[in-house]
Amino acid sequence: MAVVGSGPAGFYTAYRVMTKTDARIDMYEALPVPFGLVRFGVAPDHPEVKNCQEKFEEVAQAPDFRFVGNMAIGDASMNSAHNPHGGHVPLGALVQHYDAVVFAYGASRDRRLGVPGEDLSGVYAARDFVGWYNGLPGCDSSRIVADLARTDSDTAVVIGQGNVALDVTRMLLEHVDVLRKTDMSDEALEALSRSHVKRVHVVGRRGPMQAAFTIKEIRELTKLPGVGLHGFDHASLLPPSLKDLPRAQRRLMEVVAKGSITPLKEAKKTWSLDFCLAPKQFSASDTVKDRVASATFERTRLTDPFDSNAHVEHTDELVDVPAQLIFRSIGYRSKALTGFDELGIPFDDRRGVILNDGFGRVLRDVRSPDASMTTRPYPGFYCAGWVKRGPTGVIASTMEDAFTTADAIVNDWQSETPFLAGSKEDRGGWDGVRAEVDTTGAKVVSWADWQKIDQVEVSRGQQLGKPRSKFTRTEDMLAVLS
Ligand SMILES: Cc1cc2nc3c(=O)[nH]c(=O)nc-3n(C[C@H](O)[C@H](O)[C@H](O)COP(=O)(O)OP(=O)(O)OC[C@H]3O[C@@H](n4cnc5c(N)ncnc54)[C@H](O)[C@@H]3O)c2cc1C
Ligand SMILES: NC(=O)c1ccc[n+]([C@@H]2O[C@H](COP(=O)([O-])OP(=O)(O)OC[C@H]3O[C@@H](n4cnc5c(N)ncnc54)[C@H](OP(=O)(O)O)[C@@H]3O)[C@@H](O)[C@H]2O)c1
Repeated sequence: MAVVGSGPAGFYTAYRVMTKTDARIDMYEALPVPFGLVRFGVAPDHPEVKNCQEKFEEVAQAPDFRFVGNMAIGDASMNSAHNPHGGHVPLGALVQHYDAVVFAYGASRDRRLGVPGEDLSGVYAARDFVGWYNGLPGCDSSRIVADLARTDSDTAVVIGQGNVALDVTRMLLEHVDVLRKTDMSDEALEALSRSHVKRVHVVGRRGPMQAAFTIKEIRELTKLPGVGLHGFDHASLLPPSLKDLPRAQRRLMEVVAKGSITPLKEAKKTWSLDFCLAPKQFSASDTVKDRVASATFERTRLTDPFDSNAHVEHTDELVDVPAQLIFRSIGYRSKALTGFDELGIPFDDRRGVILNDGFGRVLRDVRSPDASMTTRPYPGFYCAGWVKRGPTGVIASTMEDAFTTADAIVNDWQSETPFLAGSKEDRGGWDGVRAEVDTTGAKVVSWADWQKIDQVEVSRGQQLGKPRSKFTRTEDMLAVLS
């Protein structure tokens, strides 16, 4: 079986299939290093979340598991600009050499708002900011480093009220000495130590009852030393008595309503949750034409402020928020792999998911004997994680989802459902792929290679008093192996 992607979805699918069958698994990863968003998404000050890597290490030690790192599936461009020694395998070549292919390649794009001014300097995708502070290769850091250092960059707007928005907010407000003890990239630490941001607006188009963030992440922000939370108009957005709410919502709203441990007048930095504001446009100042100076929002009205599924209604009332830094944190996005069209693998661009039956079996339209079109599982193709269900869900839910996919694979295998070959004959796996595809110039990274990179990062970190000092350029990762 080939697994495309080495994030939680890939590893948990591989783990479950290997515990239930004697499958041999090759895991392809575009980058020289594994773990996807566990390494390049999860906030550096949440090291406990990364403990799942220990399980993944265990999976990778199994004799029937092989890591094929630095090898993108489908898209050649993925591994060219920032990774000249990265290889790629066309999807069509991959499918010749396996019984099954599991797509677990996550969501490596960001969603755009589609409002005027989105390309002004100073407007960032949260994904780029998160990737940068986590050392993701290929992130262009020059603009953010310069923008944070500008003395007039004191106000940031974060658009979206999910947990990624709160991560971004915390990185902007947390004392940099706390971050120095984490695996945040050295460049980001340096830039954040020079940051002038003192005020962050976390803006949602709906209200507190509809926000996507969770209690632990809000509480963490309210407890940051020296950081104050501005209040908001409770009356119109929360029920008269929080006691009437279901327990989880009540506890979350109590934390939001209680505010920060640091009173506003003593706070060096502050933030607010600004509700019912839908982004309309970003504008430059009259003097500097290409740099953002403010965000304009339309105030929204909710169909029912106390219903978590409430929709927004237009009011035409505009609100300007001056800001020199804007982060749109409205979700990640998956895209189809090059080769899907040729193989007839259907991708829903709007939702950013591979069409599947909910159990992870990829679906496609086929003509039935009576000539009508009908949707059927595409033998041998499966999907798991964010590319299966969209870019939401924590690692635990991604694990559950991956287990569902793995169980579908195992059931299909045991019930002799057709797979890619249509038979169980032995297929070449990576050895077959390598013999067919020209990988000249590409440096394939094995699990043992990754362990060498890992060791060097950890020992570099020890010298700096942090858990690891990540390489942020693929050349530097690969130089460890030369
Ligand atoms: C900023 C952020 C912070 C988060 N923090 C937390 C947290 O604190 N706690 C928590 O529980 N959850 C957190 N999550 C959610 C968690 O990261 C996801 O649930 C999980 O990572 C999704 O797993 P995945 O395997 O589907 O995707 P990913 O983790 O994105 O893994 C996909 C992998 O596929 C690789 N890939 C992509 N394209 C190709 C290709 N063509 N060929 C080969 N490989 C490819 C990628 O490089 C990547 O390694 C966070 C998410 C984000 C965005
Ligand atoms: N500490 C953690 O556990 C942690 C940390 C980070 C991420 N994660 C997880 O990773 C997943 C992804 O997080 P996320 O924050 O990227 O996504 P998310 O939870 O889906 O939040 C997205 C936010 O963007 C808003 N939004 C979407 N489109 C918009 C638009 N056009 N205009 C204005 N606002 C818009 C949404 O508002 P609407 O609701 O109105 O659409 C929502 O507030 C989540 O499951 C999250 O819990 C977990």
